[in-house]
Amino acid sequence: MGSQWGYDKTYMRAKLEGYRSRAAFKLMEIQKKFEIIRRDDNIVDLGAAPGSWLQVERTLTDARVVGIDLNQIAHLDGIETIEGDLNDPEVLQQVRSMMPVVNVVLCDAAPKLSGHKSYDQARVIELNEQALAFACKVLKQGGNFAVKSFQGTDFPELYAATREHFYSVKTCLTKSTRKGSTELYVVAKNFKG
Ligand SMILES: C[S@@+](CC[C@H](N)C(=O)[O-])C[C@H]1O[C@@H](n2cnc3c(N)ncnc32)[C@H](O)[C@@H]1O
Repeated sequence: MGSQWGYDKTYMRAKLEGYRSRAAFKLMEIQKKFEIIRRDDNIVDLGAAPGSWLQVERTLTDARVVGIDLNQIAHLDGIETIEGDLNDPEVLQQVRSMMPVVNVVLCDAAPKLSGHKSYDQARVIELNEQALAFACKVLKQGGNFAVKSFQGTDFPELYAATREHFYSVKTCLTKSTRKGSTELYVVAKNFKG
């Protein structure tokens, strides 16, 4: 089937391998390149529905994995979930009580897009900054963070803000991203605390 319907090779591969979305392969690529997750890491995943990153995370760590999303995340064995907004102080409180030590925060969250490019870009960066703020509140010193963003005029601000809090910050384009997309990931390691 043609890629204009979204049923491209990556989509079909995700279906065949039992992943809830094609996004699974993006996290695999990030992990292969940056090794952001270690076997004993507790992970918080922001914007985690429908849950393909959670499926990958479960294979990468033996520790706890918590997924947060505005939408309900259908049950996955060995995964804890919170239905809520990553900006809600109650969600933050819940994470703190579930997971006293957080080693990795990942964020693949995306706002609903309006179709107005500059407005949408600003919304994405705002959400990225909120995810960064969340990570800075919960991460253990030395912890890692990765967030999905988009290239555009506001991006350098996000990059600079991330560099203030982590010793190593890189950007990553994934092969699984749809052609023509300006999507990229900011991968930050070694939280300054
Ligand atoms: C592209 S999907 C994530 C896909 C996911 N990584 C996976 O592999 O299945 C983006 C998600 O971000 C969520 N989201 C957007 N804003 C959010 C917020 N403020 N708090 C929590 N989740 C949010 C949306 O509900 C949506 O489910």
